[in-house]
Amino acid sequence: MKSVLAGKHIVLGVCGGIAAYKSIELLRLFQKAGADVKVIMTANAENFVGPMTFEAISGHPVFLGMYGSHADGEMRHIAWAESADAVVIAPATANIIGKLACGIADDALTTFMLAVTAPKILCPSMNTHMYENRAVQRNIDTLEGDGFILVEPGQGELACGAVGAGRLPEPAFILNRVADCFYPKDLKGKKVMVTAGPTREPIDPVRFVSNPSSGKMGYAIARAAAARGAKVLLISGPTALNCPFGVSRIDVTTAGEMADVVFEHAENADIIIKVAAVSDYTPSEKFAHKIKKGQDMINVPMEKTVDILAELGRRKTRQVLVGFAAETRELETYATAKLKQKNLDMIAGNLVGDASSGFNSDNNKIKLFYRDGSIEDLPVMDKDTAAHLIFDRIRDRIIHSNTHPKGEV
Ligand code: PMT
Repeated sequence: MKSVLAGKHIVLGVCGGIAAYKSIELLRLFQKAGADVKVIMTANAENFVGPMTFEAISGHPVFLGMYGSHADGEMRHIAWAESADAVVIAPATANIIGKLACGIADDALTTFMLAVTAPKILCPSMNTHMYENRAVQRNIDTLEGDGFILVEPGQGELACGAVGAGRLPEPAFILNRVADCFYPKDLKGKKVMVTAGPTREPIDPVRFVSNPSSGKMGYAIARAAAARGAKVLLISGPTALNCPFGVSRIDVTTAGEMADVVFEHAENADIIIKVAAVSDYTPSEKFAHKIKKGQDMINVPMEKTVDILAELGRRKTRQVLVGFAAETRELETYATAKLKQKNLDMIAGNLVGDASSGFNSDNNKIKLFYRDGSIEDLPVMDKDTAAHLIFDRIRDRIIHSNTHPKGEV
């Protein structure tokens, strides 16, 4: 499956910051996604990374300056600006942010930036006090007002020893934010609810019943919906993942808690996608204290949890309702049965138990089952691509088809 970045022309601006080394990884990720990347460096950036590195990896000359030994007679600032599909400045220093906010054009990067009309993505990285400085914040506000897309710096320990905001986000995160520019905004105005991750059903204060869901598939669905313009509510069981950009998240632990939150917000949603691996059973009795080792065998009676998706199916009126089915065998039989029993518009079935897809993998191999009985067997793909494909199908086969009342979603 092709990435949305395949064939795109990206210009990467690199400024003089300690995080400049991360731009090399970002360049590689763009290329892996099939994009063609050209690099513009400021003079200060050369103190941190050599242009030869970018030149060798990108396969293009690095644009370093307008005059003197750097000039080769080409109007590069105009030619590159005209061919760019997106521009990313990473790391963006306080200096470049100030210059761009004032429209200054005194070097290759700033001159080029004035000529660009493609989406401009700015990834600030600097010391926390510098980032929080009112002048820098004022300049960022100006640039956001001018249409720049800001990728906020992460929190943590910085190279200067300070702890706080200022870290350049991981290259993979920046890549996703750039990719977001190229997705259709076909979910604009829609409210999407996604559940993700496992649930944990406590046995005693230190033990619980759960499953290996990492949340990756559900978070990819939430990220995709937000990238396509939806207002997204993610209801998440315990995971180690960060909330995707532009998504609201409510954390829950047990199936009962997930049911309460889902039912509270379901009425409001246009599309509900239940990716969470919800425990079907929960211990009937929760022990107040840690069960001590003694008997050779213990019994923990379990009772059924509420089937959240089945209940949503019963209440369903205008919504699009999509489920997932994790099976270890007879995927088609079980997934089709769930589609009917839970009154779903579509179910994504995946075989689990193999490390190359399903639980905790970065990839998934899913089969889509539709109400009209048709089945779509998809190849293995990364979970972000699978998530976008699911929204393509919701748009084309459910919202814009006769199987769902047109215009009501
Ligand atoms: O999180 P990852 O590591 O990325 O792994 C992804 C995944 C394997 C968890 C995901 O792709 C997946 O298959 N999710 C559904 C897992 C599951 O619980 O399947 P199920 O067949 O048991 O349930 C069917 C559907 O009913 C699911 O949409 C589930 O959310 C829902 N359900 C189940 C039980 C219950 N009590 N309430 C529910 O709503």
